[in-house]
Amino acid sequence: MSEDFQSWMGAVQAEVEVALGERLPAVSAIPARLHDAMRYAVLGGGKRVRPLLTFAAGELVDARPECRIAAALAVELIHAYSLIHDDLPCMDDDALRRGRPACHIEFDEATALLAGDALQSRAFELLATPGLADPQRQIEMLALLARASGSLGMAGGQAVDLASVGRPLNQPELELMHAMKTGALIRAAVLLGAASGETALSAAELLKLDHFSKRIGLLFQVVDDVLDCTASTATLGKTAGKDAAADKPTYVSLLGLEEARRYAEDLYQEACSALAGFGTRANRLIRLADFICHRPF
Ligand code: IPE
Ligand code: IPE
Ligand code: MG
Ligand code: MG
Ligand code: MG
Repeated sequence: MSEDFQSWMGAVQAEVEVALGERLPAVSAIPARLHDAMRYAVLGGGKRVRPLLTFAAGELVDARPECRIAAALAVELIHAYSLIHDDLPCMDDDALRRGRPACHIEFDEATALLAGDALQSRAFELLATPGLADPQRQIEMLALLARASGSLGMAGGQAVDLASVGRPLNQPELELMHAMKTGALIRAAVLLGAASGETALSAAELLKLDHFSKRIGLLFQVVDDVLDCTASTATLGKTAGKDAAADKPTYVSLLGLEEARRYAEDLYQEACSALAGFGTRANRLIRLADFICHRPF
């Protein structure tokens, strides 16, 4: 990674960390235990890939800082909520997350469930802050995030994931599941960044950006599948080898490790090609696609 890109990443991650800390309820507010659990699940961990994508997409449109950060935080809060629920015993039953006990282990199941619920509400509340954008645009942004997190997006993808345990899926079925459970929120991160600007993209540019966002959304989960069986628990900060142990259909179970890796490279190349027309404005999005494809955890 070039020094410039790395320092940009570090700066965005730091800005996001501070903003999340400021915008989550204080532990001193009642109910303290719930607020403690929300802050525990969100702060001090995670790659912040989704906020990074929102910031990078914002560079295409001269993003308004207040709108960009609200969008970035909203997506990250939905993501954090999805991880809390994903780890619950009724879902993946995982005890480790971001190198620490999962939220329901550190607290308890009911608190973890409610922390997820409350993070979701806080995400929409943040994105609904008056004056972030033209009101019509802001309503469209809220609807975009709602669709991406709902039954046709992340939550629906999680339902398909749970219903698919022990059942081999074919490639189109697996692609749909991944596009919903992970891709939808990644896509929302990109499109919200592109909606947070003073200028708007043309319809043709939006189509290209949307194609990019869908490819990296799928890429993200394909690489997550690969890492689950190639990286260590210490590196991942979550239990390695869970997918095979739980008999989940993944790109590795469908294609084998080598073919899954090759497929990830293809998706990465396709994603980059989609942005060819943007020139250097898209450099950071392309570097993020590279990071998503080649990340160690
Ligand atoms: C993990 O997401 C869950 C998936 C959607 C694959 P990340 O790999 O982005 O997790 P953090 O936020 O960096 O912990
Ligand atoms: C999780 O997919 C996707 C969401 C949380 C929506 P995984 O179950 O593969 O994520 P990890 O591997 O536990 O992070
Ligand atoms: Mg899961
Ligand atoms: Mg999981
Ligand atoms: Mg996984």
